Amino acid sequence: MKLDELDNLKKQALKEILASKDGKSLENLRVKFLGRKGGELTKILRTLKDLPIVEKRKIGPAANALREELEQAFKQKLKELLTSNPQLPTNLDITMPGKKIAVGHLHPLTLVENEIREIFKALNFSVVEGPEAETEHYNFDALNIPKDHPARDMWDTFWLKQETRDKKQETSKKNNTPHVADRLLLRTHTSPVQVRYMETHQPPFQIIVPGRVFRYEATDASHEINFYQVEGLMVGKDITLANFKYVIQEFFSRLFKKTVAIRLRPSYFPFVEPGLEVDVQCVKCGGKGCNVCKESGWLEVMGAGMVHPNVFEAAHYNPRDLQGFAFGLGLERIAMIKYNIPDIRLFYSGDLRFIKQF
Ligand code: DAH
Repeated sequence: MKLDELDNLKKQALKEILASKDGKSLENLRVKFLGRKGGELTKILRTLKDLPIVEKRKIGPAANALREELEQAFKQKLKELLTSNPQLPTNLDITMPGKKIAVGHLHPLTLVENEIREIFKALNFSVVEGPEAETEHYNFDALNIPKDHPARDMWDTFWLKQETRDKKQETSKKNNTPHVADRLLLRTHTSPVQVRYMETHQPPFQIIVPGRVFRYEATDASHEINFYQVEGLMVGKDITLANFKYVIQEFFSRLFKKTVAIRLRPSYFPFVEPGLEVDVQCVKCGGKGCNVCKESGWLEVMGAGMVHPNVFEAAHYNPRDLQGFAFGLGLERIAMIKYNIPDIRLFYSGDLRFIKQF
């Protein structure tokens, strides 16, 4: 009698398990048959104690075996449901808010550099790079900055100690033999790449040179000991300041996404003649005067000029055949204007509250 009951229970349970369509209904079935309070099989097991001992000995093991069989059947069915529909685990609550995945992002200086690269590439400039550890020759001499000229003080320099080179120079000094090797330094600007490029290429060409530079000086809100520049150089038979004006006006208008006026002021850099300082009309107030442009209406953004004949000569060009313009801008300064950043030191602070805003 009891055995029949067990048998019927088994048939019914297996049938329903097999037919169940999802995790929730399967769990309901498990409670219905095996639940500790009021489960069908549990009910049968509870009545065992009232049976005669012979019956107990028969029914007991059979009931336990059935429990195991059903547990196995539930496990098996759950596995099937999960593999056939893996996106829907049994306890999935599709109304729960999702987890936001933190995606990495680029540093503001990288963003601005990338943008500058793209603008110049669209204007048919090539992008080239040069070494950060540079020789005295390329950083100064070839740029028409002679050894003892006061103009050299415009660039406070980190000199690199080079045991063997320095020793050789000592001995060559003592023995009065000619100067053997160039001293090494951390480049103070990207201008040396002008000469390096001209030594290995023939005009006409136009290049920009983004890169890291170093200055041995006190830091403040607008000075860092390491920062980034973008150098520009365009050389050909008849390149003039008019070409420079067009390129640079176009560049700044694309960078600031509106037509901006520019202004050229005479200035001095040893490697250009004439030398210029370039201002753009303040992008914040449009020239009326505000805190960004210190009420002047203009922002100083780059040094520039027409390549000095001595620089062409250092690159083994004939200055009579060629003309060119060059410019150099500070990447941080541009980023500070573009994103309204008040202090250059923020770029290198590693402060996530700053970095995460870009
Ligand atoms: N190299 C200069 C500096 O670091 C910037 C500069 C000025 C670059 C005039 C040029 C230029 O190419 O023509 O201060």
